[in-house]
Amino acid sequence: MANEGMVRKDTKSAAVILAAGMGVRMKSDLPKVLHPLLGEPMIRFVIRALEQAGASNILAVLGHGAAQVEEALKGRIKPVYQEKQLGTGHALRMALPELMAYRESGIEECLVVYGDTPLLTGETLTCLRNTRRETGAAAAVLTALFDKPEGYGRIIKEGDRVVAIVEEKDADAAQQKVNEINVGAYAFDIDWLAKALEEIRPVNAQGEYYLTDVIAWLSGQGQAVVSWQTHDAEEALGINDRLQLAKAQDLLRHRILEGHMREGVTVEEPAATIIGPFVEIGRDSFIETGCQIFGQTVIGKSCVIGPRSRITDCRIGDESTINQTTAMECEIGNRCDVGPYTYLRPGCVLGDGAKAGTFVEMKKAIIAPGAKVPHLSYMGDCFVGERVNVGAGTITCNYDGKDKHQTIIGADAFIGSNSNLVAPVTVGEGAYTAAGSTITEDVPAEALGIARGRQKNIIGWKRAKHSANA
Ligand code: UD1
Ligand code: MG
Repeated sequence: MANEGMVRKDTKSAAVILAAGMGVRMKSDLPKVLHPLLGEPMIRFVIRALEQAGASNILAVLGHGAAQVEEALKGRIKPVYQEKQLGTGHALRMALPELMAYRESGIEECLVVYGDTPLLTGETLTCLRNTRRETGAAAAVLTALFDKPEGYGRIIKEGDRVVAIVEEKDADAAQQKVNEINVGAYAFDIDWLAKALEEIRPVNAQGEYYLTDVIAWLSGQGQAVVSWQTHDAEEALGINDRLQLAKAQDLLRHRILEGHMREGVTVEEPAATIIGPFVEIGRDSFIETGCQIFGQTVIGKSCVIGPRSRITDCRIGDESTINQTTAMECEIGNRCDVGPYTYLRPGCVLGDGAKAGTFVEMKKAIIAPGAKVPHLSYMGDCFVGERVNVGAGTITCNYDGKDKHQTIIGADAFIGSNSNLVAPVTVGEGAYTAAGSTITEDVPAEALGIARGRQKNIIGWKRAKHSANA
């Protein structure tokens, strides 16, 4: 992403993501923070923004669906648990023991964000943190100006100082009119945060411990609380229901497509293209209409992808064409020709110049450079040597009902159309199989394997049949 270059690694900062809530308004069995945006759980965007802002120790407060969230984020966060969801202030308190341990190792500051604000950027969090550091304030609050502030906490100020955040349900008529809102991202001095979290009480419209009440308490103690206002109000979008989810997806989608276009990628029809946040694409590649490209996919230079290809976690070299194809967890080399209507399942490797053509399905197939599987084939658990030509309709019979077996085809072999290769089986280098053969035994190098019924022509058969019927 565009702001990645600005990242400054800073080991002096911890971070907490609050993600224990039910997400009632999503009306879902899936924990809210795992709802996908561009193929990634929404909380991954929050984690990335924190990482870009240099946060190195990321805690996540988990509750509703904790096991599921933990599994999805394995290794990226350290979990802490909030058993009962008693409010955002209570949630953050659950992280205090870990934060105090960081404090003892010399970390003085922590960023706090909510797991449901996936549009936040690392750049903005860096500005927020710098604002606090430069002013020496106990806390810095991220704000945005909204024409319609409904649903958000309102920022109450005296001069430049934030003196309180008032939740919508607790706001009086004058406070309701304030259109500077609480985005839900904060930088805190850990010592002051710890003190403040001890003081907040659940005396409000929702009977919850509000994290936002920490601000009024700090201010009451004479501590400075400053704010940083993001110029991009979109960053503040919090996802509470599926309409906001759709809106967030649309905004993120545009942001990511713009990034690729600025780096020299043509996106033929942006409105009909979805590219995930971790996808890399080389310059002069052309993304045709209807493509969905997800996961850790890396696409080289001058490729043509699409129309309508769905590619997940693949590595693709330069100058390859991937037309109307579904591919996942595959490696595709340079100048490969894939599609149309090809299905590449996990574990396929296509060497440079290889071809996987129309109505071809592959799984764990190694196709060496220059080998071609042009039409109507199933290639599973196989090695296909260099320059092999696999005829139309060839099937690797890789499964005996219990185990999977390998098919090996040596370099320069020629597999006749409609061959069944019953694995385990090897076709030697330069060997041929006759069209329509069911090959159950190895074919030696340079031999011809024929395994089919011999054709017999019955001369005059039609005439004989007609006279018999007469
Ligand atoms: C919160 C803020 C509000 C802000 C808005 C921005 C508070 C009290 N209010 O309101 O000022 O404008 O976000 O989107 O903080 N959570 C827990 N444990 C709990 C409750 C919540 O971990 O007990 C987590 C949720 O999983 C969620 C986050 O905290 O990720 C925010 O909770 P949510 O209920 O969405 O708060 P909002 O009503 O949006
Ligand atoms: Mg929310």
